[in-house]
Amino acid sequence: MCYTDHKGYFYKEEIMKTVKFAIIGCGLMGREFASAAARWCHLFGADIPAPEIIGVCDTNAKAKQWFLDHFPSIRYDETDWRALLSHPDIEAVYCALPHHLHREVYTGIIRAGKHLLGEKPFGIDQEANKAILEACREHPEVLVRCSSEFPFFPACQILIRWIREGRFGRLIEVRSCFKHSSDMDPNKPINWKRMIEFNGEYGCMGDLGIHTEHIPFRVGWKPVNVYALLSKIVTERPDGKGGVAPCLTWDNAILNCEARDTDGHLFPLIMETKRLSPGSTNEWSIEVSGMDASARFSTNDPNAFWYTQAWNHEQAWCRVDVGNKPLFPTITGGIFEFGFSDAILQMWAAFLSEINGVTPEWTCFTPEETALSHKLLTAALTSYKEKRVVPLD
Ligand SMILES: NC(=O)c1ccc[n+]([C@@H]2O[C@H](COP(=O)([O-])OP(=O)(O)OC[C@H]3O[C@@H](n4cnc5c(N)ncnc54)[C@H](O)[C@@H]3O)[C@@H](O)[C@H]2O)c1
Repeated sequence: MCYTDHKGYFYKEEIMKTVKFAIIGCGLMGREFASAAARWCHLFGADIPAPEIIGVCDTNAKAKQWFLDHFPSIRYDETDWRALLSHPDIEAVYCALPHHLHREVYTGIIRAGKHLLGEKPFGIDQEANKAILEACREHPEVLVRCSSEFPFFPACQILIRWIREGRFGRLIEVRSCFKHSSDMDPNKPINWKRMIEFNGEYGCMGDLGIHTEHIPFRVGWKPVNVYALLSKIVTERPDGKGGVAPCLTWDNAILNCEARDTDGHLFPLIMETKRLSPGSTNEWSIEVSGMDASARFSTNDPNAFWYTQAWNHEQAWCRVDVGNKPLFPTITGGIFEFGFSDAILQMWAAFLSEINGVTPEWTCFTPEETALSHKLLTAALTSYKEKRVVPLD
């Protein structure tokens, strides 16, 4: 940025080189962020400040130890998130906690004036989400975003560009899915993600829904109504202490929505979030069917962009190996493959770029988009309960 001083001389502000971060919640996702921060040098040629991890907070000392072992930059080791936020040199926070804590901790972070990359679903329910959005409105100087990494796969970025260029013509149908199979084992002990008091009434939709919504919502395909099919199949699990515990969260959800395209036509937008999907390992996919072209991307075939070409009156599915050509260039050669931890690094580059005042071509999920997500998921619960199509006005 350029400024003029009191004598009228121009000078250039020194570019911010690091952003001092703290992590609240040192579990599975906390480790992914820390690892991305540790290999910031992987990004090549982009002028993006690096996250420097100076604080960690977790109620579980064992969870924190990995961070303390690997990050000598950590100077604050806390068990109480409020104590962590009291350190004025912490500029930004990554928060990856169970859902029942999102409201209290996210609003605390924002009101402490720190940038926040929070995890989905951004509040255990719609009321919690509204409270977080209220804190965002009070603090417009703070950048708040919700994590969603899959659209950063290079092959998926091509699909997004095709949508923006209008290549599909009149839309026939869009299907966006996130499927897991780890819960297929009925002997897997219960954890907080299968307990309604910590995970929320949305169940699999709260865990996986935002991943399926990021692209449709961002390109302007907002659902106008929903008819939900929800399944609860595994109703109890080992409690890890020799007994059994009730498992009350939804296992699978199919949201049949109608959305309007940018020309005002309605089309079916189907969003599936499943924990019981035989054979699926973190399988995230999107398929767009249109009158002029169709395309699909799946993390099961992460290097490939699939699209159709008209061949007389037939449509041929074509597959292109995209290679490593991400939004933010990296040291990895273009002929190599791209994976989950690369997508996490790209998502973090997008967040840090925004903190630095530069909005990239694709950004993380916004708080306003989380509000639409909660509206959809709340309507989905009503739809299933009352067995009817629920309008989203
Ligand atoms: N973006 C993704 O792909 C993705 C993947 C998995 C989970 N998530 C989301 O990330 C969040 C965390 O999930 P996870 O898989 O990392 O969970 P996790 O259980 O692995 O980690 C959560 C951590 O929070 C700690 N914790 C609990 N209560 C605390 C408190 N009061 N103060 C401080 N620490 C506390 C726990 O000890 C644990 O270490 C959730 O919102 C989840 O939906 C996102």
